[in-house]
Amino acid sequence: VRISTPSPAALMPVTTSVRPTDPDAALASIRTTIGDCTRCKLHTLGRKQIVFGVGNPNADLMFVGEAPGADEDVQGEPFVGRAGQLLTKIIEAIGLQRSDVYIANVVKCRPPGNRDPRPEEIAACSPFLETQLDLIAPRVVVTLGNFATKLLSGKPLGITRVHGVEQEVVLGGNRVLLFPLFHPAAALYMPRMLEVLEADFARLPDLIGRTPVDPATAAAPAAASDDALSFDKTAISAVGFRTLF
Ligand code: URA
Repeated sequence: VRISTPSPAALMPVTTSVRPTDPDAALASIRTTIGDCTRCKLHTLGRKQIVFGVGNPNADLMFVGEAPGADEDVQGEPFVGRAGQLLTKIIEAIGLQRSDVYIANVVKCRPPGNRDPRPEEIAACSPFLETQLDLIAPRVVVTLGNFATKLLSGKPLGITRVHGVEQEVVLGGNRVLLFPLFHPAAALYMPRMLEVLEADFARLPDLIGRTPVDPATAAAPAAASDDALSFDKTAISAVGFRTLF
């Protein structure tokens, strides 16, 4: 099973993946396999280090963002900049700690100037995300923003339409609930989006505790159009968040 563009995750065959007895060691071994990666051009484009992922290898809840930004590139950990601090805050607001969940990105190296990851970069890197999903086998995978959402749902629907709507998919060989949310970087600039993000987040404890549902019984996607929320696109494009919503 592979996550690769444009292969739709939702159409992946179901496999009977078994959670390894020591996912921590298995993840460490994958990190060793990645090494000082040269599988795509990003290693020649100024990345300081690989940002593999962080958190509880037995987590029920996993977050998937797009790619490391400048702070993550320096610190070697996903979501540690301003967007990451907001993410940490809203994780704590639902009674969890960062150390309870697992956090990773689709692409493990920083694209220059925070540009969108390119198809060949995703193709080179997404097998590692898939392995992380396979080993951690979370119940709920939260995709943050448009980019991770479209990749892992295998559907072109934008985050404004699908945020807060859980769907059952097979990722890394396991059935999981995919729960797309607005990217915290976008919410930093748009108070209305932050409110929606917090409201969607409040459903997470329930989703984690619950068995995956059949997509047919999931709530219908919000009727909002992709531009239903008004925001200052100039501020966003200035910081390069094109794919976040
Ligand atoms: N944005 C992301 O998508 N990932 C990070 O790790 C940080 C910011």
